[in-house]
Amino acid sequence: MTTKTIIITGGAGFIGSHVVRLFVTKYPGYKIVNLDALTYAGNLENLKDIEMSSNYIFEKVNLLDTEELERIFTQYNPDGVIHLAAESHVDRSILSPLDFVFTNVVGTVNLLNAAKKHWGDDKSTKLFYHVSTDEVYGALGDTGFFTEETPYDPHSPYSASKAASDHFVRAYYDTYELPVVITNCSNNYGPYHFPEKLIPLFINNIINKKPLPVYGDGLYTRDWLFVKDHAIAIDLVFHKGKVGDTYNIGGFNEWRNIDLVKLVCTQMDEKLGRENGESEKLITYVKDRPGHDRRYAIDATKINKELGWKPSVTFEEGLSQTIDWYLQNEEWLKGVTSGAYQHYYEGMYAQR
Ligand code: NAD
Ligand code: TYD
Repeated sequence: MTTKTIIITGGAGFIGSHVVRLFVTKYPGYKIVNLDALTYAGNLENLKDIEMSSNYIFEKVNLLDTEELERIFTQYNPDGVIHLAAESHVDRSILSPLDFVFTNVVGTVNLLNAAKKHWGDDKSTKLFYHVSTDEVYGALGDTGFFTEETPYDPHSPYSASKAASDHFVRAYYDTYELPVVITNCSNNYGPYHFPEKLIPLFINNIINKKPLPVYGDGLYTRDWLFVKDHAIAIDLVFHKGKVGDTYNIGGFNEWRNIDLVKLVCTQMDEKLGRENGESEKLITYVKDRPGHDRRYAIDATKINKELGWKPSVTFEEGLSQTIDWYLQNEEWLKGVTSGAYQHYYEGMYAQR
């Protein structure tokens, strides 16, 4: 059995928890160290089903704590890092950009420094895998797709901080020959998604018969990918990706926000036994997000051709599974939407 020690940062978050679960269950010979500061977005409940696994270790560490990073690298001597920890919500980045600079930029450089120092000259078998977003490429008009060659043009403090972190990762490859790989993925959805992002927020609001705040004209377009398919892509790139390369990951699945919201409403009405059209009545157009990118769409040809990856579920199936998960996990939903969440929600939507 192959053995490896891998540090996964942000493993208590949405995507990270799916990546940790996949690696812990698929690779019993690997030691998986989940490094996470447990911010508002990090939740160990996301990993309840695997937390007792003998190949899983949790370390509550902030990326800004360089002494702790030093200890982690000395203690575990990892073969690889899969870096997902980040501040990830565009609306929060508009309110407090510096939090995004600290975690996404400084935190990533701290992690790069720890890897560079500990791997030293013996780094040929190591890998620093940086998980990034398609938002670094900016906004598309009605046509075209983001490829790996599209120039960076971030517009929100979130995407600017992710773009900066991507640049640092490439700089460490060029300057110090640190073995790196980067993926830029489109919008994810699925179980354990924190209900401040569009899909889980609207599922939660429909359950509670609260207004569904659609920004602007609702004609913004996103390319949605089921989170488990993202985790599968990360596994493939980690094991088979070309060092120094970038891979775009996307769902081949574009939806205008308003059409997506109507689909969520229809599926929810059916599952909740409500009259068809009842949830759509909750749709409320609100003030737009400043700097709102009109359209994102990924050309995922490279990862498809080179590594044979493609999404495994249709959007209708993935969305149905996601809604079922939220309906069956009301305790989880209640847990993450109590306390500080209420304060966030009232503040964020009072301004609109
Ligand atoms: P998330 O907000 O759900 O989780 C982020 C995790 O990082 C949390 O567990 C949090 O506790 C941890 N964290 C935050 N700051 C930290 C710090 N200073 N030190 C240590 N841990 C810290 O995010 P997500 O949606 O799961 O996104 C994961 C990664 O994937 C991010 O890098 C994001 O940019 C990228 N990404 C997300 C999407 C998406 O649709 N969600 C799409 C493409 C790329
Ligand atoms: P979001 O889930 O925040 O992801 P991102 O901004 O990173 O793409 O938002 C997805 C889309 O939904 C985006 O165009 C903004 C829009 N949106 C709303 O219309 N209302 C909302 O309450 C939220 C959170 C998002």
